Amino acid sequence: MNRFAKLTSKLFSIFLPFIDRMAYFRYYNQPFSRLPKLTKLTYDDLAHEAEANTFSIEDIDLLEKTTGYKVDSEWLKLLAYNTQIVIKKSKLNYAHGRVLYSVLSDYLSNIDHKIKKINILETGTARGFSALCMAKALADSRFEGSICTIDVLPHFQKMYWNCGSDHINGEQSRQNLLSEWSELVERYVIFFQGYTRHVLPKIALQRIHFAFLDGAHTYEDVLFEFNIISKLQNKGDIIVFDDYNEIKFPGVVEAVNYIQNEKNYDISFIHNKNSLRDYVIAKKISK
Ligand SMILES: C[S@@+](CC[C@H](N)C(=O)[O-])C[C@H]1O[C@@H](n2cnc3c(N)ncnc32)[C@H](O)[C@@H]1O
Repeated sequence: MNRFAKLTSKLFSIFLPFIDRMAYFRYYNQPFSRLPKLTKLTYDDLAHEAEANTFSIEDIDLLEKTTGYKVDSEWLKLLAYNTQIVIKKSKLNYAHGRVLYSVLSDYLSNIDHKIKKINILETGTARGFSALCMAKALADSRFEGSICTIDVLPHFQKMYWNCGSDHINGEQSRQNLLSEWSELVERYVIFFQGYTRHVLPKIALQRIHFAFLDGAHTYEDVLFEFNIISKLQNKGDIIVFDDYNEIKFPGVVEAVNYIQNEKNYDISFIHNKNSLRDYVIAKKISK
């Protein structure tokens, strides 16, 4: 390495931790709320409402029937209570957990029998719900694997998460929020903090068998993520997209339509009538 390159790296590396911290400053400072929102009783009511919205959707019932794989609903409800029952304007619904479990389990049942370990990539960890639904599918299918999940939210920073457990545990890290599922977390999940545009190109996986895109919902970000992941996929590998909804997420719709028309993927839609969005299953047609 020449002297100039050495000096430049050294100089910039001095500022790197500071710049990194500043770039994510708002995510270290109570991104959800400074105090617990409402009361635990309100979260319990919301949980009942979300349950009703999640477990009666024809397209997902049909998906589970066709694949033969259905996540344990009691397990899902418990996980959702800590990671999905939040106060927000839109109706609560965590049916994407059912979709991910069913589609991933089906993928594992059809994979080359020599493969016993797969790589999964997720954008948009949030509180960890979707990553754990995929971990559950791996464990139930007796597979090993890694789920690399990326979010701007830090993993070890204590915060209020806008969920029922804020009233029990107070400020806590995501690691603590997920402590009930620590066995699955330790076995499968690797948390990365940062913007996907920054972090994703640095994760050097040889192949990404299965991916779930649920981070930034702009056309540019979704295509950026797709372009990196698709290069590392083989025939039959899958990318699932959440939130295909023209009104709320036009960027996701535009990106998926572009992929359907121009890229080497077979696209199918699973409609969620309760939240007026589709989940998109993109299966690679050839290498
Ligand atoms: C819809 S939530 C993900 C929900 C999660 N998959 C689940 O099932 O609970 C979107 C997440 O993406 C994160 N996010 C948004 N833009 C991002 C970006 N450019 N890079 C990394 N994470 C991002 C947000 O912080 C948020 O936690």
